[in-house]
Amino acid sequence: MTLMTAENQTAERTKIKVNQLNLYYGDNHALHNIDLEIEQNAIAALIGPSGCGKSTFLRTLNRMNDLIDSVRVSGNIYVDGQNIYDSSTDVVSLRKKVGMVFQRPNPFPMSIYDNIAYGPRIHGTRKKAVLDEIVERSLQQAALWDEVKDRLNKSALGLSGGQQQRLCIARLLAVEPDVLLMDEPTSALDPISTLKVEELTQVLKDKYTIIIVTHNMQQAARISDTTAFFLNGVLVETDKTDKIFTTPSDQRTEDYITGRFG
Ligand SMILES: Nc1ncnc2c1ncn2[C@@H]1O[C@H](COP(=O)(O)OP(=O)(O)OP(=O)(O)O)[C@@H](O)[C@H]1O
Ligand SMILES: [Mg+2]
Repeated sequence: MTLMTAENQTAERTKIKVNQLNLYYGDNHALHNIDLEIEQNAIAALIGPSGCGKSTFLRTLNRMNDLIDSVRVSGNIYVDGQNIYDSSTDVVSLRKKVGMVFQRPNPFPMSIYDNIAYGPRIHGTRKKAVLDEIVERSLQQAALWDEVKDRLNKSALGLSGGQQQRLCIARLLAVEPDVLLMDEPTSALDPISTLKVEELTQVLKDKYTIIIVTHNMQQAARISDTTAFFLNGVLVETDKTDKIFTTPSDQRTEDYITGRFG
């Protein structure tokens, strides 16, 4: 039997490790030398003023920026120890493993059932019984099942905004990702739907690693374990959320969270 050292225990809990990441949109140097580690089964919040690179950074984690022509990236990002910027990376499986929810809910114009079954079908699941099971489980996990179980064959576009956002979370969970990237997932929602999504994150973190961008400081403080503050493409500071919101190390963080700029 080997003894666990503190060091390899830490290594085991690291889900994502970002190492000297730089990103350019043409001449615009949007991310500067980002170093960041994200723990598994925890929630990391990304905060910072508009245009500071939060969404850009989030998209580097599943290589969504590859879809933009002008983008150039240097540095490395390891997910479970695998460098996702390695040329051998299968981007389709990466995006299955590291899934994303966007600011505006974007259900497909099809039934609630088909929205959830879409991903599993693409990945080869055909049996109705299996799909039924996935649809129910995913909707349960996203705290939407009770509200929609009697209208699974109705259009997803008939759901409220808050329900649509939970549907998009369920659609993501249906393909069994490991990491959930959420870009301002509640900014278009009313307070009750926001609360539901926030509560959901607390349940989901037992199974997933969650990285959430938010402009809502109270939300970051309520739900996240760690917080990273970005400014002008630079990661100014990252620490335990309590620490960031009580005694941040950097004056710029303090100015931002107390509303002095941004
Ligand atoms: N598709 C793109 N093409 C070119 N430049 C882009 C693109 N997306 C973002 N940028 C630029 O990268 C920088 C960071 O933008 P990003 O969207 O990451 O900021 P953000 O922190 O998410 O802002 P917000 O809080 O407003 O969503 C900005 O200067 C922006 O103009
Ligand atoms: Mg953004």
